[in-house]
Amino acid sequence: MRARIVGTGSYVPPSVITNSDLEKTVNTSDQWIAERTGIRNRRRAAPGEGSASLGVKAATTALAAAHLNPSDLDLIIVATCTPDMPFPSTACLVQSELGATTAVAFDISAACSGFLFALSMADHYIRLETYRNVLVIGTEVMSSVTDWTDRTTCILFGDGAGAAVLQGVEGENGILSNHIHSNGQRWDLIYVPGGGSQQPLSETVLNKRLNFIKMRGSATFKLAVTMMEQAALEALSVNHLTIDDIDLFIPHQANARIIRATAERLHVPMERVVMNIGQYGNTSAASVPLALDEMVKANRIKSGTNVLLIAFGSGLTWASTLIRW
Ligand code: UT7
Repeated sequence: MRARIVGTGSYVPPSVITNSDLEKTVNTSDQWIAERTGIRNRRRAAPGEGSASLGVKAATTALAAAHLNPSDLDLIIVATCTPDMPFPSTACLVQSELGATTAVAFDISAACSGFLFALSMADHYIRLETYRNVLVIGTEVMSSVTDWTDRTTCILFGDGAGAAVLQGVEGENGILSNHIHSNGQRWDLIYVPGGGSQQPLSETVLNKRLNFIKMRGSATFKLAVTMMEQAALEALSVNHLTIDDIDLFIPHQANARIIRATAERLHVPMERVVMNIGQYGNTSAASVPLALDEMVKANRIKSGTNVLLIAFGSGLTWASTLIRW
């Protein structure tokens, strides 16, 4: 029994924030942002629009592509670091909105690696035959934790959601491997210090802007390249494959320079590497499924295509998923 992705979907809110918009609010330039990150635009959710709402829209198109109804779902896993509320889980809100009344629903938190962590769990449940139809969503409203006065981070992040419906099927095609990793000792490279149980929201938290992302950019950059390279090599080695066997690489979209440096280290030509960061920025857990859905819709992924997903994020966390479509 293998877990096969039988439908994908994605959604980004219509409101676009351009680099020129940011030039008006912080000391930056379109040229700096484009050269250092590859980002030109990012999307922003409307006021009151949370991760569940974006996730439901992505899930609805994924279910349609899979020719399944919400009532067919056995499990919903939502990967997000920007949940609608501390509790209940965003997955329960998605379950309610979809009307997937018989599905079990829960969230996982692994920041930008979240979608791959969730795929790994879905794959295990399916291979153990605990569940057959599983909906996995990566959804984020990063704008809710973005400090719009901090030029080192506000240029990077965007809002969006991507979803995949997995089904247990017999045969050779499907998820071939998942590898997930964590190193909590480097938690302080990217984090949101306030608004949780350690420093609940208070006037001090708000005044010190502790409810927003803090990041040590260049240290994160170096580790991102190393960890994504390691994740890719691990997947290849375990599956006895070489770089040339991989038709399409879908890396987490954190920075165009991180993606190019990783590809260079792996000796992968950029024609086989997916990069859409220019349009959406870093959408954290949504970035890989957004790019995956884009490739499915562009017919770049067909039956038999070998797709390698790799991700890196806060935690630290890093992961790979190798799929024979
Ligand atoms: O999702 C996974 C986690 N996130 C990541 O993987 C992000 C990883 N990091 C990065 O993408 C990059 O480190 C950044 C894009 C965040 C920064 O690029 P960098 O090339 O590492 O720049 P830097 O932090 O070394 O800063 C270089 C200069 C500094 O000025 P000084 O000290 O040299 O005078 C910054 O203050 O660029 C300055 N700078 C800016 N200038 C114009 C930083 N942000 C900006 C900005 N506009 N937005």
